[in-house]
Amino acid sequence: MAHRIFRFSNSLLCLLSLAVLCGPPSLNAEDGAQGWLRYAPVSPVPHSYEKMPAALVNLDPSPVTASAENEMLRGVQSMLGPVLRVEHRIPNQDAWVLGITGELHAQFPHYRPPALGPEAFAVSELTAHGHRYWLIAGGDPRGVLYGAFHVLSGIARGENFPAIEGSESPAAPVRWVNQWDNLNGVIERGYAGPSIFFANGSVRSDLTRAGGYARLLASVGINGCTINNVNADPQMLTPEMIHSVARIAGAFRPWGVSLSISVAIDSPQAVGGLDTFDPRNPKVAAWWRGKVREIYDAIPDFAGFVVKADSEGQPGPSQYGRTPVDAANMLADALQPRGGLVLYRAFVYNHHLDWNDLKADRARAAYDIFHPLDGKFAANVIVLIKNGPIDFQVREPVSPLFAALQKTNSAVELQVTQEYMGQGRHLVFLPPQWKTYLDFDLRANHRSTPLKDIVDARTFHRPLGGYVGVANVGLDANWMAHPLAMANLYGFARLAWNPNTTPETIANDWTRLTFGNDEKVVSTIAHMLLSSWPIYEHYTGPLGLETLTNITGPHFGPAPQSQENNGWGQWIRADRNGVGMDRTVATGTGFIGQYPPEVAAMYTSLATCPDNLLLFMHHEPYTFRLHTGKTVIQTIYDLHYQGAEQAAGLVRQWQTVHGLIDDERYQKTLALLQYQAGHAIVWRDAVDRWFENISGIPDDKGRIDHDPNRITAARMQLDGYTPVDVTPWETATDGKAYVCRDRPACTASAHLDRPAGPYDIAAEYFDYRQGASTFRLLLNHRQIATWTADNTLPGQQPNGDTSTRYTLHDVKLQPGDVLTLEGHPDDGEPAPIDYLEIVPLARSVPENPHP
Ligand code: GCU
Repeated sequence: MAHRIFRFSNSLLCLLSLAVLCGPPSLNAEDGAQGWLRYAPVSPVPHSYEKMPAALVNLDPSPVTASAENEMLRGVQSMLGPVLRVEHRIPNQDAWVLGITGELHAQFPHYRPPALGPEAFAVSELTAHGHRYWLIAGGDPRGVLYGAFHVLSGIARGENFPAIEGSESPAAPVRWVNQWDNLNGVIERGYAGPSIFFANGSVRSDLTRAGGYARLLASVGINGCTINNVNADPQMLTPEMIHSVARIAGAFRPWGVSLSISVAIDSPQAVGGLDTFDPRNPKVAAWWRGKVREIYDAIPDFAGFVVKADSEGQPGPSQYGRTPVDAANMLADALQPRGGLVLYRAFVYNHHLDWNDLKADRARAAYDIFHPLDGKFAANVIVLIKNGPIDFQVREPVSPLFAALQKTNSAVELQVTQEYMGQGRHLVFLPPQWKTYLDFDLRANHRSTPLKDIVDARTFHRPLGGYVGVANVGLDANWMAHPLAMANLYGFARLAWNPNTTPETIANDWTRLTFGNDEKVVSTIAHMLLSSWPIYEHYTGPLGLETLTNITGPHFGPAPQSQENNGWGQWIRADRNGVGMDRTVATGTGFIGQYPPEVAAMYTSLATCPDNLLLFMHHEPYTFRLHTGKTVIQTIYDLHYQGAEQAAGLVRQWQTVHGLIDDERYQKTLALLQYQAGHAIVWRDAVDRWFENISGIPDDKGRIDHDPNRITAARMQLDGYTPVDVTPWETATDGKAYVCRDRPACTASAHLDRPAGPYDIAAEYFDYRQGASTFRLLLNHRQIATWTADNTLPGQQPNGDTSTRYTLHDVKLQPGDVLTLEGHPDDGEPAPIDYLEIVPLARSVPENPHP
């Protein structure tokens, strides 16, 4: 009977799904909420699925394997059509069978599974009693879930069943994301809306998104999530908060994602009523033990604490003359009986350094503080080390601390949220960057010790290690604001699972899962992703200069001078004669000496130090010749021009997928890439101007501030617009913006004397966070374009954070034409402008072809 019912419903569904199965790929609007788990109908269906079993059995009773079962039902139906029939024991017919290896072995005595450790899975086909069984075996319930997602990902990418067979196990036990969510709902360095966990000081009542997030994370093998800001609010540890945070743990639990929290080390005093938080004080230790008990009573599978202490104003053990070992081990003792971990961050440094001291160096701090403590941390402490010694910059060397902690567990902290990488407005695919770190061979003890092997706990035979990604997804429908930014979350997880995965595989797989299997779409988007980090590096901070963004402001637009003359220690030490931090042992800060000898020798010698980190390691004259033969200064100029051209090329590449993907994500991405191309010009001009000014060496191609196509506001006929100084000066022409104050509208007009022909006309203006000025572009007093400055950029002043370009394409001009830019201020935003640029179409940059 059951069989007949299945047939009926199956054929009914086949009919219902015939259109999607046989028709062209769906181009319906998509908001990105499904991330890479779209389960779009697969067309054509790979031939192996014609023989797919129609039934499914799950042998394991846990909630996590129940998720695997439900996910299989949902994914198979959505992608292939049939509704799998759920059986409760092995049926006398072909079936999918899910279970822990022991459970499968009990059913199929001749099943010889590979030895599967925790979280590992094996997918295979087995014949028994004349039937075929497609097995998804796990070393534990998480393994089964990961195996199911592996199968579904293979189906979505159009792979046949044999290609999906095989076994996998994770590289390291700790594969966590951190969220920097505050209890008020604002996410520190989050660019995709408010917190999915908190609002107004409490846990949100609706945690649907938290569950959805855990599902996405589980689908790529992430097993932990720290839900609150590392700059932790002691209120996290009140009884009420622990009680409500347990609801978030409940939303995570079916997906095998364990919850952890960041804790403020002064919590015993701040919320515990003690008069001290000295980690050596027995009262303090007892308070933490009690707190940990309270947490485990509410959250039995609680994963542990993340700690930021003595860093950037956070309280820490140094207040009592204690060390990170004292603080970490006290917490570890409390957590140890329940299997909890302490992830103690090595991001500890003095942000009041003396910039006049040529030996001072923030990059040294983590090693100087933690290296002497090696071997003293408890077994359930992991020292969490940022990939580089500064702070998630566009390029840094690997932190030397990884090679120095040989008797201590360590994990690498990577930043998925693009704090220094364009903040959800620039396309920067980070797996290629992360791979340069993970593959970097630190040569500890004179042997091959790539970073990935150290954090996988293999090199130094440690019990624990792993990967932590600062993710910061938000309530925006598509999680990370930029439709292509989820590739970074996906890529982080793929590398945490297996750091030998290539960026090409990640880009390819993510694109297929996110946009479908059209080969043109896949090759175009994968190519764009893979080229995007070098492009961003070119137009921001190349040669090891770090990002050169506004580090005392929002970390977004260009502001090279902001690195210098303050206590933060991100100095590049640029002066009239040269640029770069001398970090050599002989004459500099000695940072290079923190590396094992072979790496230290490589960075010390100018003959072997790579160009892309030269100025991180050395102070050199602008005329120093790189391995390319070109001078430092000309390379800075040229790379900025190259990067800006390449950013424009991304727009043209994207335009080639028009009509091949859904219009909603197409248009949203197009607008962002156009914004990025404009902002890349802002970056280029600001950084090149600043270096030309400080070095006194002109660009040998004479480009800087000599663009013949540009008509600056100062050279236009102004009605109402008046100049104001811009800070930093290099982010606007001649350091001035033109603002419209105390009038409903102002204009800037230019009499053109261009040969007749088609032109692109760009207007450079400043778009503050608040206010929505409107602009009109008029040709011979007739409106040809209008737009509103309503982007929410991080600034309320004219500068590199707010400078924005609007481009109108293909305008026919005649000699004698009058072009007018008219600005209408709004809500304190004075419709500020910088220049117009009129580019003959024939001379615009040619399309960047790609393979
Ligand atoms: C950066 C970031 C801060 C963050 C800190 C950290 O400095 O700008 O917002 O708190 O890193 O990692 O602790």
